[in-house]
Amino acid sequence: MISALRSLTTKRTFHTTRCVASSGPDLRSALKELIPARKQELLEIKKNHSDVKVGDITVGSVIGGMRGNSSMFWQSTSLDPEEGIRFQGKTIQECQALLPSDPEEHDAKKSFLPESMLWLLMTGDIPSETQAANLTRELASRGRTIPKNTNKLMENLPRDMHPMTQLAIGLASMNQSSQFAKRYEQGALSKTDYWEYTLDDALNLIAALPALSGKIYSNIVNDGKPLGEFREDRDWSYNISSLLGMTTKDSCNRQNLSEEQANDFVNLMRLYTGIHVDHEGGNVSAHTTHLVGSALGDPFLSYSSGIMGLAGPLHGLAAQEVVRFLIEMNSEISSETSTDEIEKYLWKLLDSKRVVPGYGHAVLRKPDPRFTAMLEFAEARPQEFEKDKNVKLMQILSKIAPEVLKKHGKTKNPYPNVDSASGILFYHYGIQEMLFFTVIFGCSRSMGPMTQLVWDRIFGLPIERPKSLDMNALKSLCHMS
Ligand SMILES: CC(C)(COP(=O)(O)OP(=O)(O)OC[C@H]1O[C@@H](n2cnc3c(N)ncnc32)[C@H](O)[C@@H]1OP(=O)(O)O)[C@@H](O)C(=O)NCCC(=O)NCCS
Repeated sequence: MISALRSLTTKRTFHTTRCVASSGPDLRSALKELIPARKQELLEIKKNHSDVKVGDITVGSVIGGMRGNSSMFWQSTSLDPEEGIRFQGKTIQECQALLPSDPEEHDAKKSFLPESMLWLLMTGDIPSETQAANLTRELASRGRTIPKNTNKLMENLPRDMHPMTQLAIGLASMNQSSQFAKRYEQGALSKTDYWEYTLDDALNLIAALPALSGKIYSNIVNDGKPLGEFREDRDWSYNISSLLGMTTKDSCNRQNLSEEQANDFVNLMRLYTGIHVDHEGGNVSAHTTHLVGSALGDPFLSYSSGIMGLAGPLHGLAAQEVVRFLIEMNSEISSETSTDEIEKYLWKLLDSKRVVPGYGHAVLRKPDPRFTAMLEFAEARPQEFEKDKNVKLMQILSKIAPEVLKKHGKTKNPYPNVDSASGILFYHYGIQEMLFFTVIFGCSRSMGPMTQLVWDRIFGLPIERPKSLDMNALKSLCHMS
């Protein structure tokens, strides 16, 4: 089954990552170049191959969270159980080598721009420096202001409301400004134009996330007063960072970061948000966005629902669980290098029927390459991290926990997932309000599901409506009386 899936994935990758890149200077014109051929491909598949079998659905899959059930069409990323995530067929390492970074950034350890990744997801092409710069400018220009009503609403939210609830409310409220919803309501939209208004909304949504996340963070730590300024001439991750008060210029520099630390923080933000954009379609946040969008919900309502899904502890919230877990473990063991004590701590946890946060995955069966990328970020800055007990414990744990989980024998994937490293790095630089970590994840995750929603409209995909089975149907299938 896995090898069949892999060959499916490879074939799709071959089709979507083409040799000749689209030449349009902006995303809309680049997409216009690509659409006719892509639509033709899907039309051909639908017309000539609709009866081809993808796999068998078992009772185990029906009652087991639809595992192994390949029944979603997802354009831009695929997850290989062994190799991890591929963005339009490219590994994280390939993306790091190929995707344009900020042209102003001269640090050798710089990260690529998430804007470049968004271009890759949407088109299947590595953007030129100019295309990446144009999209960066476009997002900054769209994100300079958020709608008045959304702003007012965010200012009046209870300061102690869960940050993910604040984000979902802010995004849902932006549906008032949805071009797609407005035109649809007026009956002024033809099906072939759906995608253009969806693209507009999708870009406005992604562009608004620095301001929304900054607003939420200032609600939590600064009684709603701004921590930094939005710069139209800077990139998306820089603006997220400065609105969190984490840059030396354009913000209050809440943590008194040095120039080098602040620069590293912006690069951490670019790396984190660049690799969390998507993890193929079946994960809860992506699938929810797609499902809600399939009823022609606009991008704001669709992604607000996805954010609600991301807020679950088995999904996006795991990063905060890991940070709590590392801090608690460090307070109970005599040293972060004490292997015996770490092992004992893990067994105590497992014996009390709790999970080891940051380990395991529904699809992956090897260490998550996103975890490796985050770990490499820390390893490339030894002086910064050598005195951080929590980061050290995270590194040591990644060697000990897989062995313990293998002996325990339940977990299908005993290796670290991305959440075991991400939160603790943000914590190191001073973002210590753990409930907030998932908001940063939510900024990044917008890019994959929004890409898919645009392509859903281009392809004219129908409303999702799987058939459900009740207990009697299951018993009858299983020949039970
Ligand atoms: C991610 C996760 C939800 C995947 O769940 P899944 O697909 O059901 O995982 P598996 O098929 O490996 O689960 C089989 C068993 O191993 C257990 N297991 C899985 N990961 C485990 C972990 N990290 N620690 C302890 N037990 C674990 C499951 O709870 C399950 O036990 P059960 O049979 O008693 O119900 C799960 O690994 C988990 O809870 N991890 C910790 C939370 C986390 O890091 N989430 C972030 C994901 S990116």
